[in-house]
Amino acid sequence: MAHFPATPLTAEPSDRLSGTVRVPGDKSISHRALIFGALAVGETRIMGLLEGADVLATAEAMRRLGADVQRHADGSWSVHGVGVGGLREPDQPLDFGNSGTGARLVMGLVAGHPITATFIGDASLSRRPMGRVIAPLTDMGATFHARAGGRLPLTLIGARRTMPIAYPLPVASAQVKSAVLLAGLNAPGQTTVIEATPTRDHTERMLKAFGAEVQIETGPRGLLAIRLTGEPELRPCPIAVPGDPSSAAFPVVAALLTPGSEIIVQGITLNPHRAGLYTTLMEMGGDIEVMNQREEGGEPVADLRVRSSRLRGIDVPPERAASMIDEYPVLAVAAAFAEGETKMLGIHELRVKESDRIAATASGLRANGVKVRESEDGMIVEGRGGAVAGAGHVATHMDHRIAMSFLVMGLAAQKPVTVDDASMIATSFPDFVPLMRGLGASFSGAGQ
Ligand code: S3P
Repeated sequence: MAHFPATPLTAEPSDRLSGTVRVPGDKSISHRALIFGALAVGETRIMGLLEGADVLATAEAMRRLGADVQRHADGSWSVHGVGVGGLREPDQPLDFGNSGTGARLVMGLVAGHPITATFIGDASLSRRPMGRVIAPLTDMGATFHARAGGRLPLTLIGARRTMPIAYPLPVASAQVKSAVLLAGLNAPGQTTVIEATPTRDHTERMLKAFGAEVQIETGPRGLLAIRLTGEPELRPCPIAVPGDPSSAAFPVVAALLTPGSEIIVQGITLNPHRAGLYTTLMEMGGDIEVMNQREEGGEPVADLRVRSSRLRGIDVPPERAASMIDEYPVLAVAAAFAEGETKMLGIHELRVKESDRIAATASGLRANGVKVRESEDGMIVEGRGGAVAGAGHVATHMDHRIAMSFLVMGLAAQKPVTVDDASMIATSFPDFVPLMRGLGASFSGAGQ
């Protein structure tokens, strides 16, 4: 795993943004495309894979587990898989860098195989809780030796005979759901995950596309039961990865906040479990037009036309949190420019992301002259009606989304905003700076 030296970067108040862009491939779908490709016998061709460090770490892990993973000259990727149950024991630790998704999904995969693997990651990933996957995967027959509190590095001894389970998710987490389903692939009979709050469903969609039997039932009180029949033969399936709505969030919010802007972002997935930010921004008065709605690669896709807008603060419904879980830092930046307060509650999960995103966002806002009240599970941002002072230095805590959010703030604030380390942006959006520059954004700093 590459080590990124800290690279400070400054975003400067910019003139209007304009142009048409495509953001990189969706990170969640990219991880899954590689993982399912590794389980299917034959060639899975992937177009538009996100080539960010997080996904490249998963590609490397799939190679170490026995799949043949190649990038072609035209930018497409191919995976020749080994079949469900066919993974090989890796001879080196699997290094997931900064990526919780990669680490947790591959733990599910390995847990269902009679092999042993060690999982390592960077300082941020080594602080994040793995107990949430260790508990159900232990019930399925795997054994874990982890650091205190269920932290990385850990060694996983996969189940000799994987047991199917019925598992009510204790936290709304697509990563935990996916880990259990991936382990369940190599278990006889039915593995069931029960969700009280629906989370992103890319794993379920892809399981079906690769030929597995998955039934989804809505039960009492809106509970969702996802039932997977184990030991399927997965068939390779070509995958066109749509643009990532979590990455598109940055140019979209930048265009809303920077006066006179008009941009188009093409080809992002508006899967309802991912689109919460866009609903919220529209409720705040954001001028976002959804165009050319279509279906691509089994996901709903659209283009967005975004014009700068005067935003007003709102109460974000807590039940929307799962559909915009990664977007709260950039929403908080939008809220800082809005008229009135924006309440974001029911977001305790943000405390265990790449950083404690409630704390990191609140301190970044304060550093730029914005008032915010923080609670254990949320924050309330006092909007400044367009006039955000800026001039802050923001600590990013190895978190790509904190870095990009505050760079967006700097484009529309009265004074520049500096982030202490922009290098982590490469985990999810390697071309963020050139793409934003192409729209008219102005940055300065080391290496820029
Ligand atoms: C992801 C699920 C989310 C999200 C992460 C990607 C996924 O995490 O924050 O960036 O691809 O399954 P949780 O499921 O833990 O909330």
